[in-house]
Amino acid sequence: MDYKRTIVITGGAGFIGSHVVRLFVNKYPEYKVINLDKLTYAGNLANLKDVENAPNYSFVKMDICDFDAFYQLMKDEHIDGIIHLAAESHVDRSIKDPFCFARTNVMGTLSLLQAAKLYWESLPEKYEGKRFYHISTDEVYGALEMTHPEGIEPPFSTKASSASHHEAYGTDFFYEDTRYNPHSPYSAAKASSDHFVRAYHDTYGMPTIVTNCSNNYGPNQFPEKLIPLFINNIRHRKALPVYGKGENVRDWLYVEDHARAIDTIFHHGRVAETYNIGGFNEWKNIDIIKVLINTVDRLLGREEGEDLNLITYVTDRLGHDARYAIDSTKLQKELGWEPSLQFEEGIEKTVRWYLDNQEWMDNVTSGEYEKYYESMYAKR
Ligand code: NAD
Ligand code: DAU
Repeated sequence: MDYKRTIVITGGAGFIGSHVVRLFVNKYPEYKVINLDKLTYAGNLANLKDVENAPNYSFVKMDICDFDAFYQLMKDEHIDGIIHLAAESHVDRSIKDPFCFARTNVMGTLSLLQAAKLYWESLPEKYEGKRFYHISTDEVYGALEMTHPEGIEPPFSTKASSASHHEAYGTDFFYEDTRYNPHSPYSAAKASSDHFVRAYHDTYGMPTIVTNCSNNYGPNQFPEKLIPLFINNIRHRKALPVYGKGENVRDWLYVEDHARAIDTIFHHGRVAETYNIGGFNEWKNIDIIKVLINTVDRLLGREEGEDLNLITYVTDRLGHDARYAIDSTKLQKELGWEPSLQFEEGIEKTVRWYLDNQEWMDNVTSGEYEKYYESMYAKR
């Protein structure tokens, strides 16, 4: 079949990437969707079982740092769109091994950019109809303060949104023009990759877009991140390691809403623009942890709150950012995107998914998934 477009989604076997791949494969049968992933510890093809046999889907095991291989893929497949999610994504790991983060997030992104440049510039139409869309994070902006206007304690009411939690823990937000001020090796590497992407637009005219999103939650997230780790620990009555006092604030967005935003921006976003993605949904860690405990307890038929004693305060994360809060007004006004799920609904769906998919969780936590998919991959 002649496809209307051929796009590469990098990091498609990971948490967010798998939701983006599924959305594109199902919504655009006229596109060829290539999932390019190295399958690091965070990549799991089990996340895509439901689409792995779709005619417009294919998987390529590749390291984004492999310039020659990616350049060849661009030429062989006539790639006209790249949605780039592959990255090392966990802050705690970046504190232990910063080099790995610089290699993948910075050099890997640069490698993709340069291969895309060489291929697209070799075509008669050059950059026309092409797009390099880089998925980044709100962590590049650093941390916001929990501001206390005189006499008033947070949380404050925040901007209207479809999210149910209309409170903010400070009076400032991350805007698209907020100065970059990353604190962790992870966010420093993501910031650097964002600069390279913008430089390829400004220097060579490549049609790039960058988006910066807040914390995602939902099915298929690797259980080293707060929400899946804690759901699994509550289920098995294991300690919940809360960093510091549990007062850090994160702004949570359901992963499928992020995937919908990526679809909208890939197709309708303006070239060279930055869009912030978030749902005006701030929560202190300790409050979200209590919601998780109550929800897991209820769904398992335990008494709500029975497992509050699992909360264990531990040494804080080094350089732990106090508060993230995204202002996504530009995206909402310009492109009409808004989050579809109320937070309570999203958390209920998420907890149910992890409880119903214990096999997925067991495979990931035991490392079995890597062996299984190594053998699957060898058969292709
Ligand atoms: P993840 O860790 O779940 O998945 C990352 C994927 O990238 C994995 O499938 C992994 O195998 C792949 N990968 C890693 N190194 C690679 C390499 N060298 N070559 C090819 N593939 C490689 O990450 P995630 O949480 O889904 O995040 C995806 C992207 O979104 C990242 O760029 C991250 O910075 C960004 N982001 C994440 C969040 C969040 O809350 N998770 C929020 C905003 C932005
Ligand atoms: O803001 C977007 C970012 O969100 C993404 O760019 C990152 O890829 C993603 O990992 C996420 O980063 P965080 O560091 O905010 O997510 P994490 O789930 O690791 O932690 C959420 C909060 O919970 C944070 O304040 C640290 C705290 N925490 C985390 C873990 C894993 C704990 O208190 N205990 C824990 O065991």
